[in-house]
Amino acid sequence: MSGHSSYVPENGVMRWLDARLPLPRLLYDSFVAYPVPRNLNYAYTFGGILALFLGLQILTGVVLAMHYASSSALAFHSVEKIVRDVNWGWLLRYLHANGASFFFIAVYIHIFRGLYYGSYKQPREVLWILGVVIFLLMMATAFMGYVLPWGQMSFWGATVITGFFTAFPLIGDPIQQLLLGGFAVDNATLNRFFALHYLLPFMIAGVVILHVWALHVVGQTNPTGVEVKSSKDTVPFTPHATIKDGFAMIVFLACFAYFVFYIPNYLGHPDNYIAANSLKTPAHIVPEWYFLPFYAMLRAITFNIGPIDSKLGGVLVMFGSIIVLFFVPWLDTSRVRSTAYRPLYRIFFWLLVADAIILGWLGSRPAEGIYPILALIGTIYYFSHFLIVLPVLGLVETPRKLPASITEAVLGRHAAPAMPSAVAASPETKG
Ligand code: HEM
Repeated sequence: MSGHSSYVPENGVMRWLDARLPLPRLLYDSFVAYPVPRNLNYAYTFGGILALFLGLQILTGVVLAMHYASSSALAFHSVEKIVRDVNWGWLLRYLHANGASFFFIAVYIHIFRGLYYGSYKQPREVLWILGVVIFLLMMATAFMGYVLPWGQMSFWGATVITGFFTAFPLIGDPIQQLLLGGFAVDNATLNRFFALHYLLPFMIAGVVILHVWALHVVGQTNPTGVEVKSSKDTVPFTPHATIKDGFAMIVFLACFAYFVFYIPNYLGHPDNYIAANSLKTPAHIVPEWYFLPFYAMLRAITFNIGPIDSKLGGVLVMFGSIIVLFFVPWLDTSRVRSTAYRPLYRIFFWLLVADAIILGWLGSRPAEGIYPILALIGTIYYFSHFLIVLPVLGLVETPRKLPASITEAVLGRHAAPAMPSAVAASPETKG
């Protein structure tokens, strides 16, 4: 981690370890003494919540895997057996299934927080790009996990999604066969999805370590977007951020617990309680809620664009909607980081949020009548936001005046000397 270490080993054992493997020093410098801006709000607690949920998903997933059978003949029944016969199996399954949804709720808030406060802007481009890589890995993990219970939606969802790849000329069919382990979704598909579903969370954990490393090199942003200028602008991570993160985790876990204990199947699809049947296609094949905006964009392209047929067009638009996120640090031309000081951009930010929610709703509707047309409008707006609004507005908008420093934004320009007790009480002014 960057900066000077202030760690002092407390006893002989810690001194001995510090000279050989300074892990306690690394943890102390990263999560105790690490300076964070004094004005972080609750939007900045979602990174910690995500780390908690990644841990929870791995823990519950590993125990579920001890009871799960990844064979197409047994998978569906083994999941039912987990819920009915395994001690606490129902809790494990509902924690894991709803945990995936809450993981995505947290990641969407985390991403939109980043977009609102311009967290991706220089020098945090690598931090942002690592985040988008995590997001892609999360999507792949969730998709493969949903196939494992081997219900109707598992089977047909896998059939539809692996079918996308055939849209690519030449390489499409071999890629699809590689994913399936054959020519259709079957036992081989289930086995490789299980193997990858077990592997990918550990890869996510690896990228999260890089993500947090990059964060600690460049430091956190804050709601003003003004960089830290002196030690007065920061407070130590512990106790300030740990208590705030802890409180946010408890509130988030309470909402999560409501779903797990009262409405554990609310976010699932009833068809997934019917065993996979390759001879019976469900009336509507819908993905999990967190994929719906992307699904809407995929189905919005109902026409050929020159040599690109509608199927390939839809797949390119769907992948493009995530690929475009990699370029956000360079698409945003504004000198001002935080949307709090960009009155015009703020409107477009909330329009993007509304657009994503509407696209999500459209993804749950059948692809007929007015819905694909509305989805096309939503898709055009989504890409316009990144490719037109971000670059152009940054050049033409007049931002509000920025505070000279974080401390000035918190205490007011004249308040700092007038409030000696508040300043004296803050830990960075002690000793
Ligand atoms: C498992 C998933 C993830 C974990 C565990 C994680 C963890 C964290 C943590 C602990 C922080 C610092 C606290 C905070 O600002 O909330 C952070 C900050 C950040 N994350 Fe993530 N993150 C994840 C996914 C993502 C994704 C998907 C993106 C973007 C696409 C992203 C972009 C960022 C950025 C730009 C920051 C810096 C925020 C700032 O200082 O303004 N993260 N992340």
